[in-house]
Amino acid sequence: MQWTHIPIMAKEIADFLLKNPNGLYVDGTLGLGGHSRYFLNLLGPQARILGFDKDQEALQIAQERVNDSRLSVYHASYNKIPDVLEQLHLHGVDGALFDLGLSSYQLDNPTRGFSILQDGPLDMRFDLSAPLTAETIVNTWPLNELERILLEYGEERQATAIALAIMKQRREEPIRTTAQLKNLVEKVYHGRRGKTHPATQTFQALRIACNQELEAVAQMLGMLDQIIKSGGRVAVLTFHSLEDRLVKNCFKKLAQNGDWVLLTKHAQSPQYDEIRQNRRARSAKLRVIERK
Ligand SMILES: C[S@@+](CC[C@H](N)C(=O)[O-])C[C@H]1O[C@@H](n2cnc3c(N)ncnc32)[C@H](O)[C@@H]1O
Repeated sequence: MQWTHIPIMAKEIADFLLKNPNGLYVDGTLGLGGHSRYFLNLLGPQARILGFDKDQEALQIAQERVNDSRLSVYHASYNKIPDVLEQLHLHGVDGALFDLGLSSYQLDNPTRGFSILQDGPLDMRFDLSAPLTAETIVNTWPLNELERILLEYGEERQATAIALAIMKQRREEPIRTTAQLKNLVEKVYHGRRGKTHPATQTFQALRIACNQELEAVAQMLGMLDQIIKSGGRVAVLTFHSLEDRLVKNCFKKLAQNGDWVLLTKHAQSPQYDEIRQNRRARSAKLRVIERK
């Protein structure tokens, strides 16, 4: 199967990040390598990109697609960037990109369990070697924890009703597939439909909990001083308000402290043409900051 993931706001990000044509860059969320490939086409022969991802399958595809010796890949969370830089005796990078969330490769692959549209196992791990799956969460977490994640990570109005429905269903039989979960949420909503599928928020909440996504973003934001050189830049692309709020508040604080300069006063969104060609781009928000 030919997997694709169209890199979002690639030109805007390259214009911000690639100040040094032969510099050292980090792609903290390599995915299928779309951004890195775009950047390498613009960079010089001495440039280098260190690409990180929790998803080993994606890394393999990325390496084949990009096929460029200037890219080195690491199967690790972006929170390991400081450790890798230290091992390589490098003291900071010229630019870093974090394109948060999941790739189309993961979403469109039913075996990964992210999709509401295709049936598959309730997995949702970015890292297939990590112990916690969405199935474990749904079948073993207590009611109050299920309710909390649905509220906090899904901003789900029916959090209590859905958590109760999960508890009831799992007493009868374990919930093992995306279709079972989707049907359960549809029943809570009595088939009512808004602009998005009623299970969208539930799936989002489970994915965030399963991969500890917000904790990872907060940790990454706290280590920028350790990884970015003076004059270096950080670009973060987010796809929902929970992540964007973390980035916005952190960047504001860094700029107020005086060591960083905000390059995007307000979050930038993709151009209309890009959204028309790639629906995934519609909720993207880009924020960029520079270390003084
Ligand atoms: C939106 S995709 C990146 C797509 C990529 N920019 C491209 O153009 O192909 C996000 C990727 O981040 C990875 N990811 C999520 N959390 C991560 C983390 N904490 N550390 C490393 N990778 C992570 C996911 O596995 C996924 O492959």
